[in-house]
Amino acid sequence: MANPDNNLPQGIQLTPVDDAFRTDPYKVLKDLREQAPVHHDYELGRVLYTGHDDVKALLHDKEFFTDPRKANPGTFTREFLAASLAPGEQPSMLLMDEPDHRRLRSLVTAPFKPAAVERWRPHIRDVVKQTLNNIDSNEFELMQHFAGPVPTVVIARMLGIDSAMHNEFKQWSDLAVKIAFNPFPTDDERAKGEAAVQALEDFFKGQIERRAKNLGDDLLSDMIRAEVAGDTLSKEEITTQCLLLLVAGNVTTTDLIGNGIKALLDNPDQLLKLRSDPTLIVNAVEEILRYDSPVTNSGRIPNRNINVGGCPVEKGASLSPSLAGANRDPAIYPEPDRFDITREDTHHQSFGGGRHLCLGAHLARAEAQEAILGLLARYPNLAHSDKGFEYHATPAFRGFSKFWVTGLPSPTAQSH
Ligand code: HEM
Repeated sequence: MANPDNNLPQGIQLTPVDDAFRTDPYKVLKDLREQAPVHHDYELGRVLYTGHDDVKALLHDKEFFTDPRKANPGTFTREFLAASLAPGEQPSMLLMDEPDHRRLRSLVTAPFKPAAVERWRPHIRDVVKQTLNNIDSNEFELMQHFAGPVPTVVIARMLGIDSAMHNEFKQWSDLAVKIAFNPFPTDDERAKGEAAVQALEDFFKGQIERRAKNLGDDLLSDMIRAEVAGDTLSKEEITTQCLLLLVAGNVTTTDLIGNGIKALLDNPDQLLKLRSDPTLIVNAVEEILRYDSPVTNSGRIPNRNINVGGCPVEKGASLSPSLAGANRDPAIYPEPDRFDITREDTHHQSFGGGRHLCLGAHLARAEAQEAILGLLARYPNLAHSDKGFEYHATPAFRGFSKFWVTGLPSPTAQSH
């Protein structure tokens, strides 16, 4: 790509690897939306979109691709995402195009529908309670002791994994996630991540073989049983799908819980409203998703030359719709930088859209609702700790690596 034609940020300045962006991406995204809503990031080889309507249109275009091998050489998608696929390797659903994507998605979709997810709500509530019971100090690091474990243990239970394996499962899952979406892993992260992915693959293959002989009421059994028009999932497909559930679902939901607690602690009037009327949690979680999305960018590859916002972009380019940018567009949201859990229109782009709309959206919502309400009920005086917080630096994601809080557990809160 040619050189930049303005002084707007480029490359890693548009990722949380950069200190300023990590601290406040919304300031940078606002400048972009105002000055160049279609912004060529020449350094990373992609085009970034920050206006709500453009982002929505790109996400919903049914002709566009997500398979990174279809992107032009030199683009972000081709150089970073395609490079992570071995030759001939089947990508996960997220990076798969039609008709393969439709086939796979139709086979795994049933357990993620709202009614199916609701059946797991009592389990989620139980995991929240058990995780809170394990906290043994009045000052604790929220991500490690609460927001991290909840989604991993929930998905482990949903998959029917024996509780004796949960710790090991969480360690593999955390290491695998560290390399899954990070285009700049360190050598150490890459080596440990690859070993963890291998361990998870071997583990899932063993589980699938055993479960096939003794099907139960769990997600793994659902996938083994799934059949659409005589078609079923292979062992390899189920394994890939399980890995995707971990990498797409765990860190994102962890970050949603962390970002939500931070937004509430920073806005005591909103926290008070939620404490006085816990039924507001449904709208509150939507507002958290809009206000501080755990996933900040998605990706698409146009199948044709396009012209969005008056800017021509060639077929095979790497498009980066900024979900975080779209969610703060003042043309759509009055006072977009205000966190308001009673906001009437909390629709957002945080789960993407179109064919690849997040499969786990209902599950993520249910987990965040239960986790936030559970934590607030247990700690009636939850507050920031002097030890502060730190954002992690994973591109396209937003959340905390550390977030210290304090609180005295409520003597009336149930602990078993
Ligand atoms: C707050 C939590 C979450 C957020 C913000 C989130 C966000 C997203 C986004 C932005 C996409 C891409 C959509 C697009 O490009 O149009 C996606 C796809 C996906 N997500 Fe989530 N996600 C979350 C939780 C989960 C959970 C809990 C699961 C499952 C356990 C999950 C499974 C998936 C899958 C399988 C896809 C690929 C869907 C496809 O390609 O058809 N996600 N998610």
